[in-house]
Amino acid sequence: MSKMVKVGIVGLGRIGKNHARNLARRVRGAELLAGASPVAEERSWAQQELGVSRLYANMEALLADPDVDAVWLATPTSLHAEQIVSALEAGKHVFCEKPLALTPDECERVLQAAEKHSRQTVMIGFMRRYDPTYVEAKRLLDSGELGRLFRLHCASLDAIDTNGFFVQFAPTSGGLFLDCSIHDIDVALWMTNGAKPVSVSATGIRAMYPGLAACNDVDTATATVLFENDILATFHASRTSHHGDETSLQLVGTDSSLSLGVGGTPTSEVNVQKGNANHCGMVVDFFARFEQAFVLEAQAFIDAIQRGDTLRERLLEAREATRIGVAMREALEQQKIITLDH
Ligand SMILES: NC(=O)c1ccc[n+]([C@@H]2O[C@H](COP(=O)([O-])OP(=O)(O)OC[C@H]3O[C@@H](n4cnc5c(N)ncnc54)[C@H](O)[C@@H]3O)[C@@H](O)[C@H]2O)c1
Repeated sequence: MSKMVKVGIVGLGRIGKNHARNLARRVRGAELLAGASPVAEERSWAQQELGVSRLYANMEALLADPDVDAVWLATPTSLHAEQIVSALEAGKHVFCEKPLALTPDECERVLQAAEKHSRQTVMIGFMRRYDPTYVEAKRLLDSGELGRLFRLHCASLDAIDTNGFFVQFAPTSGGLFLDCSIHDIDVALWMTNGAKPVSVSATGIRAMYPGLAACNDVDTATATVLFENDILATFHASRTSHHGDETSLQLVGTDSSLSLGVGGTPTSEVNVQKGNANHCGMVVDFFARFEQAFVLEAQAFIDAIQRGDTLRERLLEAREATRIGVAMREALEQQKIITLDH
């Protein structure tokens, strides 16, 4: 039997708690040994809710724990690159939430550290790759069912925020494209087997959250990417969905097309008709939409460590996703078409 992987999680906020629950209860071969957060309530939560015994106020203390094999980063995006490098230097395997980093230079730093620590696994949290509907889309595409793929349309629409979280979160997120569309960019790279981007254009507005002006972010935006071999991809991201979470994909090939998730995900097969209206509950957030994918993603990380797979190809794709996301933001800010070298 493979050795248990002892995991230390850093960051126990919105997504960190979700990962911590999974790692503690639902991932074979993993033991959630330690946690780190600067917030005392988050540390108490991990102790009381999950029985995590080793809790630290900062990442450095967790990295100094010799029993921790792997570090799981669920921290603000602006910290990712620096923290991945520190964790690798401390001899740990690393999972880090998306995106890999906010700039191509930061990505390079991580790539160099990963090259130096060539036996340690590094994985970035693109959980759509483990969602059964996306996996099925990829299977159909690879089977040849669609013919030659020439068009992708991806949407990541967040439900309208009623408590101000998005405005508070935005300054460290890299902006709407690097925060939300980064998942769809990764999907596009996955579906096209790493097609090279040629040019990027983008448009965006602040329709509902004027507070985003402080960090020059938008709440509704689209980007168009032309990939090599005449593959045209469009990306729609927003924080303004009236029907809850919508994570959708449309693929068009020369023989057929497919779609998933368009219009959101119903919570039930049963619709209720009342007052001349049809009522159907919809999945509100990504936690519910990707509940299973988050567990499978964590399992994939632990399995990769146990079989000695460093996942370097995926890290290169994560760097490419950041490069495209940055180009989208530049295209939006500068209102011009950005040409990408390859
Ligand atoms: N895969 C997904 O779909 C998905 C969804 C949401 C968030 N995320 C990503 O997860 C990351 C965290 O997002 P969130 O929504 O949980 O944010 P959050 O603000 O709710 O949580 C951030 C956590 O980091 C901790 N933290 C802050 N500074 C720290 C430091 N210096 N050292 C250690 N811990 C520190 C905070 O205490 C908190 O626990 C972001 O990179 C975001 O892009 C991914």
